[in-house]
Amino acid sequence: MSVTTSKKETLSYKASPLPFMGQKRNFSKKFMDELGKMPNDLIIIDLFGGSGILSHSAKVAKPDCRVIYNDFDNFQLRLKSIQVTNDLIAFARSILSEYPRNNRVPEEPKKQILKRIKQAQSDHGYIDYISLSSSFLFSGKYALSYDELAKEGWYNKVRRSDFKADGYLDGVELVCFDYRDLYNQFKDVEGVVFIIDPPYLQTQSTTYKEHWNLGQHLDTLTVLQSEKFFYFTSSKSNIIELMDWLDSHAFMPSPFKYCKRLSHKQMVSGLNSYEDIMFVKG
Ligand SMILES: C[S@@+](CC[C@H](N)C(=O)[O-])C[C@H]1O[C@@H](n2cnc3c(N)ncnc32)[C@H](O)[C@@H]1O
Repeated sequence: MSVTTSKKETLSYKASPLPFMGQKRNFSKKFMDELGKMPNDLIIIDLFGGSGILSHSAKVAKPDCRVIYNDFDNFQLRLKSIQVTNDLIAFARSILSEYPRNNRVPEEPKKQILKRIKQAQSDHGYIDYISLSSSFLFSGKYALSYDELAKEGWYNKVRRSDFKADGYLDGVELVCFDYRDLYNQFKDVEGVVFIIDPPYLQTQSTTYKEHWNLGQHLDTLTVLQSEKFFYFTSSKSNIIELMDWLDSHAFMPSPFKYCKRLSHKQMVSGLNSYEDIMFVKG
């Protein structure tokens, strides 16, 4: 994760300070550029806030605007637990220092580290297992509980430095609502721009609070009636294709028809790739 400081001494994060599946780190620059072209008296509402990186980027790009981050997953609890997470990782670093990196962690050191995690769980009541996972599990694999972490095979991928999130959500308003309730509160307010980054159709989202079915994915299209929005999706999800089909068969106009489309190519294993897409209206 890279952090820079702007002329106004505002900390600017290019990615979420903690691991978060589906965060829009690759769009942070394009998003800020597009938002920068919009007026300075907006209310920016991040309906599917996730890690908060888009809310953070919005506040950096538009410091005078009101920015509302819908923290549906309680990411702030993970941020508040950073010290505990860092202490546990520092302990693991000392235990694993004599073991080769990226190799399987033998049972004995794993047991020692798990014992410390269990103790921390009873001392603090909450442990950020998602952040811990990135030090022990294959990339993209996350445990959500002690039992899940304990049952996995571990690899020595322990972080070399502390997590840091100083100033990350400075000036951002935090709320926690179902996105429809938040949308309804603001849909008739002047000068609102909605950031809409729902869980994607046909992508894994096991670390999110709830699993979505097709109807729930389609429901998010109802918030595209607003005057100004950023909508994120991917070529892996078939939403755009479906909208284009309905449009070309005269069922309904595609909500993306008059939007600006920006994309980012994501390489996966071998020669495979897919596109992350951002639509901008307003
Ligand atoms: C693709 S992620 C958003 C990622 C975020 N833009 C970022 O860059 O970190 C979708 C988020 O929507 C959340 N979510 C799921 N159901 C929701 C609901 N009913 N209302 C609001 N958010 C919801 C998920 O838990 C997840 O955090």
